[in-house]
Amino acid sequence: MGDDSDGEAEEYLFKVVIIGDSAVGKSNLLSRYARNEFNLHSKATIGVEFQTQSMDIDGKEVKAQIWDTAGQERFRAVTSAYYRGAFGALLVYDISRRGTFDNVGRWLQELNTHSDTTVAKMLVGNKCDLDNIREVPVEEGKALAESEGLFFMETSALDSTNVNTAFELVIKEIYSSVSRKILNSDSYKAELSLNRVSIDDGDSKDGQKQTSRLGCC
Ligand code: GTP
Ligand code: MG
Repeated sequence: MGDDSDGEAEEYLFKVVIIGDSAVGKSNLLSRYARNEFNLHSKATIGVEFQTQSMDIDGKEVKAQIWDTAGQERFRAVTSAYYRGAFGALLVYDISRRGTFDNVGRWLQELNTHSDTTVAKMLVGNKCDLDNIREVPVEEGKALAESEGLFFMETSALDSTNVNTAFELVIKEIYSSVSRKILNSDSYKAELSLNRVSIDDGDSKDGQKQTSRLGCC
């Protein structure tokens, strides 16, 4: 019998949110990660969508429920509900549009205002395949991330550069910080299970991917 056989399945489900201006590539990063799909002509997101993706860490099944919403204010869902219970966040800008980088501070502020626990945050400079029309140097992204205490990575949802790495790094960071806290405190475990995102996921197992549309919540 394994050492985790205390009746509770040793399974984790962490909510991760993707934020950033419209058309920076949030939805394509998610579809690339969850389904290895990319859409050149994707429509602006309306409301909220999420996908659940599993990965194995230290022999444990860790599921990430990754939420994607509209960058455009008028299409966004209720802000507080979007951030509630998030353990990780990807703050995305488009390296070929400086304005999207200039707005990162605003997104970070919103995240900090609405998140209710320690959040593993990564700054993501997407569309690095567009190096020829780059408006934000890599060094600027790195410097901002350093000053704000964020992880940093440039990605391309189009050619897949660093997409899996970015999501997996955030999920591993969440897992290790949660494991550390569990080691240090039994009461945290109870707190964690309260804070868990519960979804009626139709009992999807074994890394099965799913898409749910919540419209506006
Ligand atoms: P909203 O839903 O409006 O907030 O936008 P979004 O951030 O979800 O952007 P979306 O993923 O819909 O992508 C916007 C456009 O950028 C689409 O035309 C994509 O094909 C394109 N795109 C996304 N990622 C990349 C990338 O890595 N490289 C390039 N060249 N284009 C990309
Ligand atoms: Mg979108």
